[in-house]
Amino acid sequence: TDQSLIRNFCIIAHIDHGKSTVADRILQLSGIVPEREMHDRFLDRMDIEQERGITIKSQAVRVPWTFDGTEYTLGMIDTPGHVDFTYEVSRALAACEGAVLLVDATQGIEAQTLSNLYMAIDHDLAIIPVLNKIDLPSAEPEKHAEEIAGLIGCEPSEVLRVSGKTGEGVADLLDQIVMDVPAPHGDPEAPARALIFDSVYDSYRGIVTYIRMEDGELHSREKVHMMGIGMTHEPIEIGVISPDMTPTKALGAGEVGYIITGAKDVSQSKVGDTLTSAVRPASDPLPGYRDPKPMVYSGLFPVDNAQFPELREALDKLKLNDAALVYTPETSVALGFGFRCGFLGLLHMEIVSERLSREFGLDLIQTAPNVTYEVTGEDGTVHHVTNPSEFPEGKIKRIVEPMVAADIILPKEFIGAVMDLCQENRGQMGTMEYISTDRVEMHYRMPLAEIVFDFFDQLKSRTKGYASLDYHEDGEQSADLVKVDILIQGDRVDAFSAIVHRDKAYSYGVMMTKKLRELIPRQQFEIPIQAAIGSRIIARETIRALRKDVLAKCYGGDITRKRKLLEKQKAGKKRMKMLGHVEVPQEAFIAALSTD
Ligand code: GTP
Repeated sequence: TDQSLIRNFCIIAHIDHGKSTVADRILQLSGIVPEREMHDRFLDRMDIEQERGITIKSQAVRVPWTFDGTEYTLGMIDTPGHVDFTYEVSRALAACEGAVLLVDATQGIEAQTLSNLYMAIDHDLAIIPVLNKIDLPSAEPEKHAEEIAGLIGCEPSEVLRVSGKTGEGVADLLDQIVMDVPAPHGDPEAPARALIFDSVYDSYRGIVTYIRMEDGELHSREKVHMMGIGMTHEPIEIGVISPDMTPTKALGAGEVGYIITGAKDVSQSKVGDTLTSAVRPASDPLPGYRDPKPMVYSGLFPVDNAQFPELREALDKLKLNDAALVYTPETSVALGFGFRCGFLGLLHMEIVSERLSREFGLDLIQTAPNVTYEVTGEDGTVHHVTNPSEFPEGKIKRIVEPMVAADIILPKEFIGAVMDLCQENRGQMGTMEYISTDRVEMHYRMPLAEIVFDFFDQLKSRTKGYASLDYHEDGEQSADLVKVDILIQGDRVDAFSAIVHRDKAYSYGVMMTKKLRELIPRQQFEIPIQAAIGSRIIARETIRALRKDVLAKCYGGDITRKRKLLEKQKAGKKRMKMLGHVEVPQEAFIAALSTD
């Protein structure tokens, strides 16, 4: 394809502003998806994406569009919208020359609208501002066009208005893309260089890698080399998606397409890597290769320990498609065998655990999320602690925790509530700007550990759902943190240990001991439940003793009835875990570890 007739663009939007709906409408309008095959959200193929209404993996579709009598080839790249997948968003943006900035006309600019916009500006993309959902009676296009114009420095009249639902304005949007998005300008004669902006595992085809050709041409029979990880692969097929996989003989400069190789899992074909020809390799890779780095860790344990091998198998399968997921076996005194897993963020964690239970039928207990702390002991040894059990005993010289820069957009009446919340979570306030007369953007620097706990839910509930949050890594900082242990009848229960700020240690201790007192049934002896920092007890509850005489209810000598009762009691015991002499019901672990 002649590069001057190519336009590569992506749609960037805050979650739920209608990106997938508009993308579907574009496919339909271009005629590549027949009306009768058009089902909602054609681009989101994974079930879980459909159900949760979020896009996890980006995809790229080739869409023909005729403007002024000339047929253009549009490459539409779908980007994930959530903070956890920022790196994937940034790679998808790097594969484009333009971005459609989509804003819900009933909501206006939100936190991820801004983070995505700033990333698009960083990549020098042409920005096409668009208001979506103008069919809704509650849409306020005038007000929000003003907001957007103020943000990107255009006239409010230049902000397009569309409805993904009715299709209104979408054809104009495509015309605008042809006019405003620059054509690619790679060197067609140079050695082939392509950016990998997505890589997915398909059970039929193996690894499907999405690439954007920068320079040169790639032929279907040419061996390819991944410059970052240094692996060479034999191509099985190359092609374009329109809207299904269509094999082609070659991909030229500026084109977006896919390549299928013999790669075993996505870590052999990584997002951000540069793909070149093994026969005539490029000398320098494209900028931007980075290994995904887990930010949040948590333990996953099968409720039934016999399911441990199945859990391992399931994680291995998920890993095929998820280079960011890491896991190592872990043993817990209380929970048995499981895995310590690392995730990009909370959403990533939720998705993984939900897929494990839904797609693999696993019943799991998940321990509280933990960030990575750098703990220096008195002898100067540095420990990287991703699990409270790795917290060194004895005197600690210094603890450093990861920080994030958080941007929060909210209606001004909630400023006070959000300031309180951020303060409670050790946030340091930065600047605050009005983005319109009634909404502000606040900037905070905060420990990631606080965000990971239940900050987002709190933010939503304290602002009636009106605030939006975005955050990114922002170095680290030393903090006064301690490990709080929970002891049942004097024995430490590893699953309940937590690393918390000293100011919150007491309230964590009180909360956990109270919770456990209610969750653990009375037994034939008294059970003390304590919270401790080192050997110092900071909270205590007691479960009083009880003599449970099940046979007392059988007055007569009916032996069958007695036996039945005894059997019932035995069955009940199966669901119990023994901690020392104390029986703790499985549910107590699950309930005690949940944040609600
Ligand atoms: P992610 O891809 O998961 O980031 O979300 P999204 O931005 O793609 O949002 P999606 O397309 O799933 O739309 C969110 C909701 O808004 C859905 O319930 C859509 O039906 C609805 N929606 C999208 N566009 C319009 C529109 O133009 N009008 C109306 N009335 N509803 C719309």
